[in-house]
Amino acid sequence: MDSQKRNIVVTGGAGFIGSHVVRLFVNKYPDYRIINLDKLTYAGNLENLKDIENQPNYTFVKADICDYGAMLDILRDNDVDGIIHLAAESHVDRSIRDPFTFARTNVMGTLTLLQAARTFWESLPEGYEGKRFYHISTDEVYGALDLDGTLFTEQTKYQPHSPYSASKASSDHFVRAFHDTYGMPTIVTNCSNNYGPYQFPEKLIPLFINNIRHRRPLPVYGKGENVRDWLYVVDHARAIDLIFHKGKVAETYNIGGVNEWKNIDIVKLLIKTVDRLLGNPEGFSDNLITFVTDRKGHDLRYAIDSSKLCRELGWQPSLQFDEGIEKTVRWYLDNQEWMDRVTSGEYEKYYEAFYANR
Ligand code: NAD
Ligand code: TYD
Repeated sequence: MDSQKRNIVVTGGAGFIGSHVVRLFVNKYPDYRIINLDKLTYAGNLENLKDIENQPNYTFVKADICDYGAMLDILRDNDVDGIIHLAAESHVDRSIRDPFTFARTNVMGTLTLLQAARTFWESLPEGYEGKRFYHISTDEVYGALDLDGTLFTEQTKYQPHSPYSASKASSDHFVRAFHDTYGMPTIVTNCSNNYGPYQFPEKLIPLFINNIRHRRPLPVYGKGENVRDWLYVVDHARAIDLIFHKGKVAETYNIGGVNEWKNIDIVKLLIKTVDRLLGNPEGFSDNLITFVTDRKGHDLRYAIDSSKLCRELGWQPSLQFDEGIEKTVRWYLDNQEWMDRVTSGEYEKYYEAFYANR
């Protein structure tokens, strides 16, 4: 599959994970045409792709995945044969405040894109031959684990708790339904928490790095006992590349870092790393830790069993966490201008309202 020329739409390519996927594909596959389709919501930023924006195999199209006519035109005009679908509303706290936006984008948007792909691909003489609809999902659809060492496998029952995970679960079901009903060649992957450069600073790691730098409080929800399984974003992009090319149609693959951390321990690691890199004395920022009211319905633990992906396709995470965190902290400290620009508008208002409501 990787030897042929391809026209691939990456939705959400201006966001955090999408920008790493676009960068990897543009650099690695000069014969492919990579079309970054993004609405540029508060979370999408073309600055994330400055280094590749002039490459001849890269195009950006501003569009909303909920717009059926636009989706059909983009797929037809570019003779698209592969879709890697990352566009979504992605922040749990926002989903608690505004579930409708999550249903619109994540459920209706995914369904709209599926329906446009179906209309276009079914109109071609070769039909679905050589086509691929790859949907990027999250481990959060599986619900929450106890602190007992169990892991989410591809067989774990869906039990989403937040409006975000409920909307992602619904979109996963629609993708599988399009395979089972119409024969569309789909793949779904469910990945654990990602970290790395270009993540919008509403999520734990970039938010806290920025707050430590500016000596702002670090709002740890509850007691900081919740556990997440962290994967470096470039390793996720590498997995997406492998699965897009070598994954089996109609299969699900879990992707995770085998890297579980309690939130409070991550916060301490971030404080230590930022203080060291800024030349502050040890313990300088410890007093910024502020325990705040817990997130509503806060899932206790996520942890992924990615042995199927490792066994069947030979994927392995490339970075150890201490190395990944060091790189990540350095990147945010070195890219304060990026941070200032992405936090300059809508997010500032959100940030103020967030603290005012606590
Ligand atoms: P993000 O919020 O950083 O980026 C989302 C992108 O989608 C943005 O560029 C935004 O402009 C775009 N977008 C939003 N609504 C759109 C619409 N209606 N039409 C077109 N574009 C739209 O998200 P992310 O963290 O990069 O996550 C990408 C995908 O990966 C999501 O589907 C998410 O559920 C999934 N995922 C994320 C994580 C994680 O830790 N961040 C983990 C597992 C899975
Ligand atoms: P987040 O980065 O929002 O990802 P997710 O909710 O998808 O796992 O949060 C990671 C963990 O950090 C989660 O348990 C919630 C917690 N958290 C805080 O304690 N304080 C914060 O300000 C944020 C944003 C998250």
